[in-house]
Amino acid sequence: MKIGVLKETKDHERRVALSPEVIKLLIKKEFEIAVESGAGEGSNFTDEEYKAAGASLVAKKGVFDCDILLKVNIFTKEEVSQMKEGSACISLMYAYNHPEILAEMNKKSITSFSMDAVPRISRAQKMDALSSQANLAGYKSVILGANHLGKIFPLMMTASGTITPSKVLIFGAGVAGLQAIATAKRLGAIVEVSDVRPETKEQVESLGGRFLIVEGAETVKVEGGYAAEVSEEFLQKQKELIQSKIKETDLVITTALVMGKKSPILVTEEMVKTMKKGAVIVDMAVESGGNCEISEKDKTVIKHGVTIIGESNLPALLSTNASQLYATNISTLLLHLANKDGFNLDREEEITKGVLITYKGEIVHEFTKKILNK
Ligand code: NAI
Repeated sequence: MKIGVLKETKDHERRVALSPEVIKLLIKKEFEIAVESGAGEGSNFTDEEYKAAGASLVAKKGVFDCDILLKVNIFTKEEVSQMKEGSACISLMYAYNHPEILAEMNKKSITSFSMDAVPRISRAQKMDALSSQANLAGYKSVILGANHLGKIFPLMMTASGTITPSKVLIFGAGVAGLQAIATAKRLGAIVEVSDVRPETKEQVESLGGRFLIVEGAETVKVEGGYAAEVSEEFLQKQKELIQSKIKETDLVITTALVMGKKSPILVTEEMVKTMKKGAVIVDMAVESGGNCEISEKDKTVIKHGVTIIGESNLPALLSTNASQLYATNISTLLLHLANKDGFNLDREEEITKGVLITYKGEIVHEFTKKILNK
């Protein structure tokens, strides 16, 4: 089995699918590996390091000779057109957003596996790229937000006066939110948190955050590790609770996600108008529509005196660590699916079934089919 690693082409992407360290492990398992020259540059991995790890360095064209191609972002139509008939690929696909690319893959009978579809079960934790990347992104959201504030986070008593701590409000206590809480607390802020899942209260409090309870709220269903959509009534009650808090907040971080759906609007323009001048919002959910009504994807804008950051690829700003973790995730999945002699797919097994998107000219992934047929 020959594995190929392509250089990412998406704007501002700095990550790469395999690190030299992980390549050493795959070589021990007797895979052959070809890396596109310069693929690791954005993550500070040099061609020499890849070569020393045992990979061959090739031009882009050479990577398409491989049996399985690896990337961080979904393969472009142009890349699919260069793939060998019947070859395979793994990347973060968000397949339900790209029916045209799936159609191209099916024309060439490409077997595709998606890293964002790894089931959230303990056995698959080491393959869970959404969590590894969201964890880093949660950290970076706080650092970025802090950088745009004209204030410090901790209480500081000095001869010139006492500075009171900054207040941080975080929506969503999933992977990104919990890391954001931990980071903001470490920097000394007062942290308040809202989530629709009541069971997150304990986790928030264990990190030193204060959980805001939406009184009289329904119990929210959890499906496959993700919160299901809540009612309009819940969102209304949550807004009333938040309205009073947000006026006092210095930094808002929003991470509320409902899998496969547009993100819920939690911070309206009216709320932004009531915020303190100089306050900052980091809308982490901007890619799926945003939790803030007036955030703009990949832009930092100032509206009503508030800085609103809509960075959609925070992990790329921490590319060295993000690539290290992603490489572990993708290689662990690869070793689950294949060995040096080829694929060994058990299509009824939960992880394989969860990640397999296209196979023998068809979309076989149930969730993707459901969303595309809506
Ligand atoms: P997660 O599923 O672990 O956490 C999401 C949390 O939001 C859950 O705890 C859920 O209960 C909560 N939630 C859902 N509706 C809510 C509501 N109305 N109010 C408050 N909380 C609500 O997801 P994860 O991995 O933490 O990712 C969070 C978000 O960050 C996602 O939208 C993801 O796409 C985004 N993300 C953005 C990155 C960036 O670079 N901007 C990088 C990584 C993730």
